[in-house]
Amino acid sequence: DIGSRVNVLLSKMTLEEKVGQLNMVSNGATLRWEDIASGRVGALLNFNNAQDIARAQAAVRQSHLKIPILFGLDVLHGFRTQFPIPLGEAAAFNPTLSRLASEWAAREASYVGVQWTFAPMADLSRDSRWGRIVEGFGEDPYLGSVLTAARVEGFTKGGLATATKHFAGYGAPQGGRDYDTTYIPPAEMYDTYLPPFRAAVEAGSASFMAAFNALNGVPSTANPWLQTDVLRRQWGFDGFVTSDWAGIHELIGHGVAANGAEAARKAILAGVDMDMMGELYVRYLPEEVRAGRISEGVIDEAARRVLRTKMRLGLFDRPDADPGHVDAIFPSTEARQAARKVARETFVLLQNRNNVLPIVPSARSIAVVGPLADAPQDQFGPHGARGHAGDTVSVLQGIRQRAERSKIQVNYAPACDLFCKSTDQLPAALEAAKASDLTVAVFGEPVDLSGEAASRAHLTLNGKQAEVLEALAATGKPIALIIVGGRPLELGKLADRIPSIMMAWYPGTEGGTALADVLFGDVSPSGKLPLSWPRTVGQLPLYYNRLPTGRPTLENNRFTLKYVDEAITPLYPFGWGLSYTKYSYADPIIAKSRLKPGDTLEVSTMVTNTGSRAGQEAVQLYTRDPIASRSRPLRELKAFDKIALEPGETKRVVLRVPVESLGFHQDDGSYWVEAGTIEVFLGGSSLAEKVGEISILETFTLPLSGQR
Ligand code: IFM
Repeated sequence: DIGSRVNVLLSKMTLEEKVGQLNMVSNGATLRWEDIASGRVGALLNFNNAQDIARAQAAVRQSHLKIPILFGLDVLHGFRTQFPIPLGEAAAFNPTLSRLASEWAAREASYVGVQWTFAPMADLSRDSRWGRIVEGFGEDPYLGSVLTAARVEGFTKGGLATATKHFAGYGAPQGGRDYDTTYIPPAEMYDTYLPPFRAAVEAGSASFMAAFNALNGVPSTANPWLQTDVLRRQWGFDGFVTSDWAGIHELIGHGVAANGAEAARKAILAGVDMDMMGELYVRYLPEEVRAGRISEGVIDEAARRVLRTKMRLGLFDRPDADPGHVDAIFPSTEARQAARKVARETFVLLQNRNNVLPIVPSARSIAVVGPLADAPQDQFGPHGARGHAGDTVSVLQGIRQRAERSKIQVNYAPACDLFCKSTDQLPAALEAAKASDLTVAVFGEPVDLSGEAASRAHLTLNGKQAEVLEALAATGKPIALIIVGGRPLELGKLADRIPSIMMAWYPGTEGGTALADVLFGDVSPSGKLPLSWPRTVGQLPLYYNRLPTGRPTLENNRFTLKYVDEAITPLYPFGWGLSYTKYSYADPIIAKSRLKPGDTLEVSTMVTNTGSRAGQEAVQLYTRDPIASRSRPLRELKAFDKIALEPGETKRVVLRVPVESLGFHQDDGSYWVEAGTIEVFLGGSSLAEKVGEISILETFTLPLSGQR
C-alpha cells in the first residue's frame, strides 16, 4: 500500500533529500538544473511545454532516488483553449459547465505534461475593489462550495491534481487591497469563508496553497490554526500544503520572523509542507533539525505528505514518464465547442429596456464600437496560461460572422484606444452609430486592470469611456452596452442613459462566437450575478447575505441604515439576470413543514416560460432564520437548479436542503441548528418571494467534522 511504500522510500532518503521534496522552484533564469539532478527539488512551476518538461525529467533520471518531480502551473480557466474567467463561469450557476471547463483545461495541460494546477481559487469576496475577485466565484458560500467542488472534480478528471487556494480569508483584505490584512471572526470564517475550502477537501483536492496575507494578525503561511487544526484535524485532509510564491520569506515582512531560518521554522511547524520560490526550506531546515530546533519527524511528515500525493497521482508508476506531447493539436474543435457552450451561459443581461436585444433579423446595419470589441488577448482575462490571441474569435469577428449570415452590415469603429485615454477617434464612432440601426458598444476593463495586484480604488469605467458612451447614447440610436471585464464597474448615469446592458466578463477563446449567439437571439441569456453589483465604490463591501440591524432602512427616517448620498441597495442584486423570455413561478409546495434532525427541507414550484423564446432559468432557494441566539443573515442561498424551458413549457422544480445545513457556527467551531422557524424564499434572484415557513423541532449540534 501507499503508506508503506512511502515509508520504505523515506528510510532511504537523507535529510537533505527529504527537504528537497519540500522545495518548489520556477522555470526561468534563476533555475539551477543541477539542483534537480541532486534531489534538491520536489516540484517545478511554470513548465508549460513538453520540451522543458522532458529536460527536467532527464535531470531527475540522474538523481540518486529518481523521485518524480511534480509539474505545476496556474491553469485556471483553460490552457490553450481559454474558457470564461471563473467569476463569469460562476454566473452560469451551472456546476456541470464548471466541471466541463475545468476538465478541458486539465486535459489540454496534462497533454503536454503538466500535472498540477494552482486552482481552483476558493476565496470568497464581497469587495470588487480586490482584483482577484475575477478568479473566484463571487460572494456566496453555497454557490462557492458547489462550484469549487465541481472545479476540483473537473480538473481531477481531466488529469490535473489541484492546489485549492488561498487558504484562507485572502478575498477579504482591508480596503480591497491585494495582500493586505484580513480580520474575520472565527464563526464568520466557519460560516462564510471556509465552506468552499471544505468542499474542496470533500471533492478530493490533492493539495492546498496558503494565502499571502495575515488573518486576524497571524499570516496564513505561519498559521497553525488554519493549516493544521482546521484543514487536517477538523476536516481530515491528508494531502500537502504549499506556500504561495515566496510566502515563507514574506513572514519576515509580516514581522513574525526575524530571518529566513525562523520563517522556515514557523511555516513548517504551522503545517505548510512546501516552499514555493523561497528556497528557505532547503537552505535552513536541515540545520534547524541538526540544532534540535525542529524534530526530524516534522520533516518526515511533510515529505510523507508530498510523496504520498505523488504516489496517489501515479507518478512513481511511470517514472520515465511520458515526457508530454508536442502541442500541435491545439486548440481542438471539441474544446472550442465546449468553450462556446460554457461562455453562452455566463453572460448576464442586467437590463434590457425597449427590448433593444436581441438584434432583430430585420436590422439592416449595426455599429460595433469600443476598443474591447477587437482585443483578443484581453478576452482571456488574467492567467491566460498558453492561450493564443490568434486562436481567438474576438467580439467583432463573432458579430461579423453572425451578421453576415443575416445579411446585416457591420460598421466598426473603436472610438478610442484600449485605455480610452483620448477621444480623437470618437467622431468616426458617432458616424458609424448614426449610420446604423443599433449600436453594440463594447467597453469595460482591459485585462491589466484585473487580477493579482490589480486592486482598484475607483470602479468607474477607466479613461474616457463614460464620455464616449454618453455621446453614443446622445445619437438617439438604440444602444446595447457589453461590458468586458473581471469585476462589476460603476455605471453611474449610464444605467439610465443606456437601455440595454450585458456583463460579458472575459469570455475566452470563443467569446466572440458565444456572444454573437446571444446578441442575435440564437440563445437567450441565462447568466445570474454571482455578486451584488454596487452603485458606487463607497458601498463596498456589499453582499446580499448581510445581517439585519436594529435600524432597518426606512425611506422617511434618517436614523436608519442608509447613506445620505446614495441608495443602500445594489444596482443589481445577487442572483439577478434577465432573459429574452419571461418565467412565472406558481404553486410552491413545502413537502414537510416540521423537521427533525436528519430530515430534508424539500420545496417545489412550477416554473413556466411565458415568453416566446426558449431559455434557461436558475431557480434559487433562500432561507432565513429570523430569531436565533446569534443574528442570522437576511437571506442565504441554500439550493439552486438550472432548468431549460421551451416557450409555453412548464416544469416542476424540486429543491432540497438537509436540515443540517440550516444552522451556524460558534467561534469555537461548534455547529448549531436551533429549534424554531425558518423562512423560505424561492425565485429567480436574491429578491425571491417568500413562499412559506418551516419549523425545526429541536436544537442540536454537530461535531466539527460533521458540519454540512
Ligand atoms: O498560483 C499563484 C498564486 O495564486 C499567486 N502567486 C503565484 C502563484 C503561482 O504562480
